[in-house]
Amino acid sequence: MSSRHFLSLLDCSPGELRKLLLRAVDLKKLLKAGQSYTPLTRKTLAMVFDKSSTRTRVSFEAGMIQLGGQALFLSPRDTQFGRGEPIEDSARVLSRMVDAVMIRTYEHDKVETFAAHSSVPVINGLTDLYHPCQLLADMQTWLEHRGEIKGATVAWVGDGNNMCHSYINAARQFDFNLNIACPENYLPKTSVIKPAGDKVNLMTEAAAAVEHADLVVTDVWASMGQEKELDERQDAFRAFQVNESLLALASKDALFMHCLPAHRNEEVTDEVLNSPQSVVWDEAENRLHAQKALLEFLMA
Ligand code: CP
Ligand code: NVA
Repeated sequence: MSSRHFLSLLDCSPGELRKLLLRAVDLKKLLKAGQSYTPLTRKTLAMVFDKSSTRTRVSFEAGMIQLGGQALFLSPRDTQFGRGEPIEDSARVLSRMVDAVMIRTYEHDKVETFAAHSSVPVINGLTDLYHPCQLLADMQTWLEHRGEIKGATVAWVGDGNNMCHSYINAARQFDFNLNIACPENYLPKTSVIKPAGDKVNLMTEAAAAVEHADLVVTDVWASMGQEKELDERQDAFRAFQVNESLLALASKDALFMHCLPAHRNEEVTDEVLNSPQSVVWDEAENRLHAQKALLEFLMA
């Protein structure tokens, strides 16, 4: 199958990712100027959600409408996805009807299998392994606030989860240094860290990771699918909360990001989320603009 897919940041070259971010900034300006731009007229995006979503669903749906196309929301409750139709067959069928497919699910190999049997582009809208669309928005947000991220120091504090894995890939693709502080039983996967080489430093103390960092990022302590582990995770992660005293160790003009939804006063305090250093609302908005650039790149 010859379509381009976006299952992880590694599916694009650093040059392509850079162009996507610049295009996202342009598309944002165009929208704010009230200009219509509809290169995806008569195109349809199918969106398969095995997990909940606000930002991803609304940004892809609004993005498709703004680009002149349409988006279909498919939940496992009322499609054959939830009744065990083979992924390969679903991919063959959907890709004969729509022009691209976005999938949010649990196992990453499901999106890989789907993509392998799809004749149209497949976009990863979050799996247990990666959340690459969020990284496009995060990198666009950095670009707008601070310019080039190359050479900067980013601190990831908290769980070695899908977002952390995508930050590791971003460190490779955008050439920044990533300090990661996680409790010892919640480290990112070695298979994701290893290829990043010296771009990534694993640390056990949040303070050490954040010291002199230009960007501090965290995420929930229990991701979707891990709700039952919340109590034990709260104990393990207590020393990894991003609060004012931790953020004070970062460089003076450091930014704070969180993909949201946040558990306020758990992984991040209200004070940090509401502080002038927090760019979480720009980050959420940029999901729309960055994904429009991605949809245009894959579909137009
Ligand atoms: N950040 C993010 O992906 O949010 P949703 O779960 O609301 O889509
Ligand atoms: N790590 C979180 C991100 C949500 C956008 C999760 O997978 O639930």
